[in-house]
Amino acid sequence: MSTPDLGLPMTVRADGLPARVRIHEVGPRDGLQNEKETVPTEVKAEFIRRLADAGLTTVEATSFVHPKWVPQLSDAERLYPLVADLPVDLPVLVPNERGLDRALALGARRVAVFASATESFARANLNRTVDEAIAMFEPVLARAKAEGLHVRGYLSMCFGDPWEGPVPVPQVVRVCRTLLGMGCDELSLGDTIGVATPGHVTALLTALTEAEVPTDVLGVHFHDTYGQALANTLAALQHGVTTVDASAGGLGGCPYAKSATGNLATEDLVWMLRGLGIDTGVDLGRLVATSAWMAARVGRPSPSRTVRALSHQEQ
Ligand code: HMG
Ligand code: MG
Repeated sequence: MSTPDLGLPMTVRADGLPARVRIHEVGPRDGLQNEKETVPTEVKAEFIRRLADAGLTTVEATSFVHPKWVPQLSDAERLYPLVADLPVDLPVLVPNERGLDRALALGARRVAVFASATESFARANLNRTVDEAIAMFEPVLARAKAEGLHVRGYLSMCFGDPWEGPVPVPQVVRVCRTLLGMGCDELSLGDTIGVATPGHVTALLTALTEAEVPTDVLGVHFHDTYGQALANTLAALQHGVTTVDASAGGLGGCPYAKSATGNLATEDLVWMLRGLGIDTGVDLGRLVATSAWMAARVGRPSPSRTVRALSHQEQ
């Protein structure tokens, strides 16, 4: 009798879901920006290399933000050249023209601006109002597009904000449309503090469809504070979304949003998608090994249930 493979779920397809999902891995950026101790540059580079080796095709590498605002990523100039030759997309965050200059100088081909649906977070994260931040992105978009770069637009606080509470759907739709109108190639809808629930996700996506925002430019970015990230992802897939942000091992948070915990763990996502027969190209065993390795580097176990179940990391 053959031994059952406990390392993979049984595949049972469900109706109305995409055949393939692109995972936008944010562990090295969203994950490591929130670590108390700065992770050495060589360890970050090795982390990115291992993620690419596990089959992730988009790995957000770092941010070209002010080093005083996010000291954990102040080594962007040293890190990027160490991974630039990998055969994967390596988007980087750029808040302004200074950030874009730094990214262009290193040959980055994919950049992301990051807006907020709420005034409180725009102020906390970018030292600007929502509209002032949009004005700051305008020349970034214009120059990036002229250089032929791919530009992602993040929108934070799409569901709830720690200072303002629930965020009205029309307020989110307005900024989404503005970012797309400026030329963003894709939009990532951020649940920065992890308060969304599936009905809310469906309501926002439906409102965006009604506002003529094409679903194929949308990605979802769920932090997992209340354990809703996977359920929210399934709701998004049912609406036709095929780009999902996740962080290896569930690393992550945002230094400027109190109560932001880690992102949806990439392993938990891959386990669910695998069970649903949705292709991601990711080797789950290699990914789990990478996150267990990284957990040892940051000195605490991964919060991912899948990493815990499949690895032998110290708990
Ligand atoms: P500011 O203090 O208003 O900056 O910060 P400024 O424009 O007034 O410039 C002040 C000085 O900073 C100048 O230097 C600039 O050159 C310099 P000086 O002339 O005084 O010597 N400077 C820079 N230096 C290096 N790189 C730069 C840069 N820009 C200005 N790019 C700023 C405004 C946007 C710079 C600041 O607020 C900042 O860096 N914020 C970044 C915050 C951040 O990275 N947050 C985390 C990422 S967002 C997130 O995690 C959410 C997400 O995951 C989605 C979700 O979960 O919702 C994406
Ligand atoms: Mg985030």
